[in-house]
Amino acid sequence: MDFSGRAARLEDAQAIYELIAAAEVGWHGQAEVVPDRVAADLRRPLIDLALDTLVVEAPDGEVVGWAWNHGGKRAQVDVHPSYWGQGLGTQLLGWAEARSRAVGSEWVSQTVDDADKAGTALMQSRGYDVLATNWLLERPLATVEPQEPPAGIRLAPYEPERAQEVYELAQDVFGAQQRRKSFEEWAELTIARPAFLPAASTLAYDGNSVVGLVIALDGEEGYVEQLAVGVDHRNRGIARAMLDRTCREFRHAGRDSLILWTHSGTGALAMYEHLGLRVRRSTTVHRLTL
Ligand SMILES: CC(C)(COP(=O)(O)OP(=O)(O)OC[C@H]1O[C@@H](n2cnc3c(N)ncnc32)[C@H](O)[C@@H]1OP(=O)(O)O)[C@@H](O)C(=O)NCCC(=O)NCCS
Repeated sequence: MDFSGRAARLEDAQAIYELIAAAEVGWHGQAEVVPDRVAADLRRPLIDLALDTLVVEAPDGEVVGWAWNHGGKRAQVDVHPSYWGQGLGTQLLGWAEARSRAVGSEWVSQTVDDADKAGTALMQSRGYDVLATNWLLERPLATVEPQEPPAGIRLAPYEPERAQEVYELAQDVFGAQQRRKSFEEWAELTIARPAFLPAASTLAYDGNSVVGLVIALDGEEGYVEQLAVGVDHRNRGIARAMLDRTCREFRHAGRDSLILWTHSGTGALAMYEHLGLRVRRSTTVHRLTL
């Protein structure tokens, strides 16, 4: 079949979303990608559509694959399942790597669903190594019975007047794993989101100081965006108690399960499994040194 390539346009977002969703349905029986994600990725400030994107069309104009390169460091390639096995993924990946080289990047990374055996094999065959693993964890809410918080610790819903303190705790705790974010950047990902749920979010206080936080977001399932406990307050059961409180609030709001993503850089997987969360699916971040 004669395929042709061109830069993506904003109007392609729906077609690209559909091809990603079709692949996810094949692997997991349901799509996890949210409809507005592709549009947001195409609109990112660093993205120049003419240079950083490529879509592949079938002769009838159907969008059957795409590649996206963000700042030379992150790439994404997806092909519609009906067109797998024709070498399109390899070509798109070659284009994404060439784009990273053209902007002078020393490496490029790509996140691949672990259920995508062909995609994973392609990464290996091109010399990518494994940078990190991400796990989507789930906990059914029917069985959660919240315990008393540890002695001296008080739990409460998120309170807007504590925003600065919560932000600072999150930066202190995640600062070792990630770049420090400005208040605005952190808020965009957490408390300023339309899906933010202050009542299901949980703060832990020691006296008048915030020592722990859970940022909860709404969805078909309860979602935890951030969970953190200050270094001086660890191993006292604060994370367990906060998570239980958030689970109870989600259950009151009619949700049946809680989900969250964690990654190998945090070392928290063992704790979550100890607390009864189970891995639903995982992805691997592959990296190629250029
Ligand atoms: C992960 C974190 C939230 C744990 O907070 P914490 O208050 O110390 O955890 P708790 O004391 O409530 O521990 C709950 C249970 O998990 C166990 N646990 C805690 N950390 C663990 C780990 N790394 N591996 C295995 N088990 C662990 C505890 O022993 C405890 O079990 P127990 O009640 O049977 O004794 C905290 O270490 C932290 O903020 N880390 C940095 C941020 C982070 O990685 N967040 C998660 C990213 S998604």
